[in-house]
Amino acid sequence: MLRGGRTKIATLLGAKELGREVVAKGWVRTKRGNKNIAFVALNDGSTIHNIQVVVDVAQFDEELLRSVTTGACLKVTGTLVESLGSGQPVEIQATAIELYGTADPETYPLQKKGHSLEFLREIAHLRPRTNTFGAVLRVRHAMAFAIHNYFNEHGFVYLHTPIITGSDAEGAGQMFSVTTFDIEAPPRDEQGQIDFTKDFFGKHCNLTVSGQLEGELGAMALSEIYTFGPTFRAENSNTPRHLAEFWMIEPEMAFCEIEDNMNLAEDFLKYLITYALTHCRDDLEFLAKMYDEELIPRLQFVVGNDFVRLDYAEGIEILMASGQKFEFPVSWGLDLQSEHERYLVEKHFRKPVILTNYPREIKAFYMKQNDDGKTVRAMDVLFPKIGEIIGGSQREESLEKLTARCAELGIPEKDVWWYLDTRRFGTAPHSGFGLGFERLLLFVTGMANIRDVIPFPRTPKNAEF
Ligand code: 4AD
Ligand code: MG
Repeated sequence: MLRGGRTKIATLLGAKELGREVVAKGWVRTKRGNKNIAFVALNDGSTIHNIQVVVDVAQFDEELLRSVTTGACLKVTGTLVESLGSGQPVEIQATAIELYGTADPETYPLQKKGHSLEFLREIAHLRPRTNTFGAVLRVRHAMAFAIHNYFNEHGFVYLHTPIITGSDAEGAGQMFSVTTFDIEAPPRDEQGQIDFTKDFFGKHCNLTVSGQLEGELGAMALSEIYTFGPTFRAENSNTPRHLAEFWMIEPEMAFCEIEDNMNLAEDFLKYLITYALTHCRDDLEFLAKMYDEELIPRLQFVVGNDFVRLDYAEGIEILMASGQKFEFPVSWGLDLQSEHERYLVEKHFRKPVILTNYPREIKAFYMKQNDDGKTVRAMDVLFPKIGEIIGGSQREESLEKLTARCAELGIPEKDVWWYLDTRRFGTAPHSGFGLGFERLLLFVTGMANIRDVIPFPRTPKNAEF
């Protein structure tokens, strides 16, 4: 089916049948040449590669050709022929050019190549037109597709959990409020507190930090589910690994203990990386050439090796014995920072690491408590260059232990009664984890800043586009 009256450039570049008339549409990346002949590199986002359009200057209107500048949008009709130049298999000998839209060279921000990633963040509305962001966005799409594919093949049900919620799943309290109140003058009760019973939902609501709690409700009926949606955290951390709005994939499995959970996490990550190596080769090679020579060997290494599985306590011992100076000093009970995670992964083991059995005090209320009374059955997957890529756990399935933990942490039962009902009625061992989609993309693309793997990043003081 021909859509939009054109063939995509990715298809044209792979075409075997030459000598026929084709139509390509896209944006001009470069134009070069002389008085007699012009070469226009055209890109439509279907591939990292441009198609070369060869223009016999004498055959075309001078005015029209003057307007064919970087950024302009064209319809090109011509003959698809073998290319004599190196670097491309085929090119188009133009017979007609229609100009859809000009791009004034004086003001088009992408007139020149080689802009810094920092600058491109300021023009996030135009940066998809660069090679880098074209590549990143195609890989992002491929990974989203592969995620659904993986779970579909393994019999998981895609569960849509709400974005607006009344609960704080992670208990970190870093939530964005959702309200229809006039923020200048919200209704107040007799004590002067804001009266959320009069708000849209009749209670104080927030944007979700995780779909897990609702995911568990699904798993306790459908046995294996996953969520894949946006999550929001109002943490004021301006790091290259944190976003205020990010996407998370959260599988949740009934009848699974922590070992099954670790096995799934490892198999899932390896599947996704293999998928990228197989289906996004051109884009990965481009990104490797531009930013990170080690990218492809690093991806292959992760796919080809078992992840190390280690107790948190052993991890702490290794860090303490390392002789390394850390910004945050190490002792049992420490919530590991990325400097510690990366030491274990990059310096000590030189492999991805799954750390388990963390101190209960630094982990969420729902994690399964170990018999030692000190640790919970948490698991974090730590990756080179990234640190934590996955956080998960076996869940506490005992109603008694869970309500006791809620009481200790001051979580009112009236807020989580529906969650506790899964333990009250037909409880079962179950486990799950959350993969940060953009952290995965950082790893797969080799990009260094999380703002560069999502089309329109949301970070403190940044929501322009
Ligand atoms: O470790 P976290 O907070 O775990 C949860 O939210 C659990 N409810 C998941 C579960 O068990 N179903 O977050 C999970 C992952 C992290 O490992 C990280 O990859 C990513 O989400 N993440 C972020 N990514 C970008 N920006 C942020 N601010 C992130 N916070 C967490
Ligand atoms: Mg975590």
